[in-house]
Amino acid sequence: MWRLYRLFVGLITCHPVSKVGGYLVTFGTISGIIYTVGTLLYHVESPYIGIIFVAVVPPSFLGGLLLIPVGIYLKFKKQQRENPSLAGKPLGKILKSLSGEEDVRNRIIIFILFTVVNVALIIVIFIGSLEFMDSAAFCGRLCHSVMAPEYAAYQRSPHARVSCVACHIGPGASWFVRSKISGLRQVYAVMAKTYSRPIPTPIEHLRPARDTCEKCHWPEKFHSDKLRIITHYADDRENTKIYTAILLKVGGPEAEGDRGGGIHWHVSSGNRVTYLSEMGERMDIPWVRLERDGQEPVEYSFTGSALSDAEIAAAPKRTMDCVDCHNRPTHIYSTPDRELETMFRRWPELLSVPYLKRAANEILSRQFDEEAIERGEVGEALAAWYDKHSEENPDPALLKQAAEQVQEIYRQNIWPEMGITWETYPNHIGHTVSPGCLRCHGNNHVTAEGAPVNSDCRLCHTILALEEENPPLFEYMVHKEQ
Ligand code: HEC
Ligand code: HEC
Ligand code: HEC
Ligand code: HEC
Ligand code: HEC
Repeated sequence: MWRLYRLFVGLITCHPVSKVGGYLVTFGTISGIIYTVGTLLYHVESPYIGIIFVAVVPPSFLGGLLLIPVGIYLKFKKQQRENPSLAGKPLGKILKSLSGEEDVRNRIIIFILFTVVNVALIIVIFIGSLEFMDSAAFCGRLCHSVMAPEYAAYQRSPHARVSCVACHIGPGASWFVRSKISGLRQVYAVMAKTYSRPIPTPIEHLRPARDTCEKCHWPEKFHSDKLRIITHYADDRENTKIYTAILLKVGGPEAEGDRGGGIHWHVSSGNRVTYLSEMGERMDIPWVRLERDGQEPVEYSFTGSALSDAEIAAAPKRTMDCVDCHNRPTHIYSTPDRELETMFRRWPELLSVPYLKRAANEILSRQFDEEAIERGEVGEALAAWYDKHSEENPDPALLKQAAEQVQEIYRQNIWPEMGITWETYPNHIGHTVSPGCLRCHGNNHVTAEGAPVNSDCRLCHTILALEEENPPLFEYMVHKEQ
């Protein structure tokens, strides 16, 4: 054992270059172990520690490993030069004189031991780096100012526990490599500050949604109707609570019965809806084509547009998949209305602040710059609104609470630095805030014969109540919507 150790130390210390290599390997090993223990046992999840790990540990470990044989080789050359009798002698002989170790077998044992330990460490370091690069902390927090809006919206979404890479990359080696290559470009863009603000939606670079979403969601499973009760608050003095209830025909590709089809009909295996959108931003859709197994394709054109056949043939087209409707599955930028409704649901006591819905809506649609938001001017503006309408005289404590909430809502949704406001990223589900489904179902797309895409209000839902204070529907429900 002692001889093995001497041989080991002898080789590593034989030349300054291999000594440096030895230090680097030791440093890499120790920090690798500390990081692994830290993440496994203590759940340290700092993106900064992670990037140090990824950027420093593998290079120092691997670089160190390379330097050791380089040092030995240099020493070998030097000895050959200094001691001509060694010239032409095999490496083995010289190594022997370097380490003072006679036995060849020991050198082989050392070599094998060393290799096993190194391979194990390399695997650990490699897995650690990959895991870290897949974490939401890496994606969302490292490029803090750039990704902050996406990260903030993500953390409040139904997918807050799904890692960024599950949707943006998905499983498989080829997408992994592609993403790392485009990642390098993005890191450069962040460092050089050449990235666009707001970040454009990556739809054409995103992996086809059917690959990623369907890893967790099973489209054949969507069936039956879904009752959605939507709470609104009126603009009146009492912020009156009103309800809309719709029965959404979520449906599914293989849904059975006379309600066959439904909303998820677009992604059923027999149907293909292809469309063309101007500038690729998927808002204005001049042309739609529907192909169904065993039927002639049907083409619809926007009534207001006059694209020639050649223009249509030349333009890039897209086949509808999950993200053409669910374009905001996780980066859900809200609307002032929705945010205020959530606020009233969480803090019902705020309902007693007269006209709060109206006043807050007005403040939230104003523009404040970065510093003004930092200084809390959004909340102050709400207080100022009530100063102007002093006859309303709200409870000061409640007004203070409301001002804090309105300030927070603004901070969470508006990112002047990244050019993001309420309208930047429209949500394509529904049609109340942005055109959404009505991009095609708006009675504006017709076949050559003049038949429109079905746009009947009952195609997608049955409206059971419309902004009512006490819908009769509630008689039948055990739990009223809170
Ligand atoms: C549930 C799936 C999903 C998850 C999880 C997810 N994203 Fe996305 N992301 C998308 C989709 C889909 C789009 C494209 C939106 C569109 O087409 O309008 C997108 C777009 C983006 C954009 C472009 C800007 C924008 O808002 O359109 C950025 C940046 C982004 N994601 C970053 C992240 C980061 C960082 C994380 C993890 C913290 C993450 N994403 C997690 C699905 C996801
Ligand atoms: C890694 C698994 C995973 C992936 C990938 C994934 N989801 Fe989800 N998704 C979930 C889970 C889990 C929920 C349920 C969250 C809950 O209710 O707590 C969910 C919920 C949803 C919901 C219902 C949201 C709501 O408001 O209740 C929609 C819509 C959805 N996902 C769409 C998508 C789309 C579109 C994609 C692809 C861009 C996608 N998901 C990718 C796991 C995933
Ligand atoms: C034509 C637009 C459209 C397409 C395409 C689409 N969806 Fe949906 N999806 C909807 C609508 C609308 C709802 C109901 C939304 C709501 O509850 O507010 C919905 C609901 C869902 C839900 C929640 C179901 C429930 O019962 O709560 C999930 C999960 C989902 N979709 C996943 C997917 C996946 C995965 C794909 C792709 C295979 C997909 N969707 C394709 C429009 C679409
Ligand atoms: C890119 C264009 C496009 C968009 C966007 C779109 N649809 Fe469609 N949808 C179509 C076409 C084309 C048809 C078939 C036309 C017809 O039957 O008249 C269709 C048919 C339907 C049907 C009837 C399915 C059946 O059973 O026959 C429903 C329901 C539907 N869409 C719901 C939605 C909802 C909800 C949205 C928004 C979340 C939406 N669509 C967005 C193009 C679109
Ligand atoms: C192509 C499908 C489609 C058509 C056609 C359609 N809707 Fe909708 N509508 C939706 C979807 C999807 C939602 C749910 C949006 C969501 O989940 O937030 C919705 C939501 C609504 C809501 C509730 C909005 C809220 O937030 O309170 C009302 C009201 C409504 N629709 C009325 C209508 C009327 C009236 C028509 C006919 C002029 C119509 N819709 C046609 C798909 C459609």
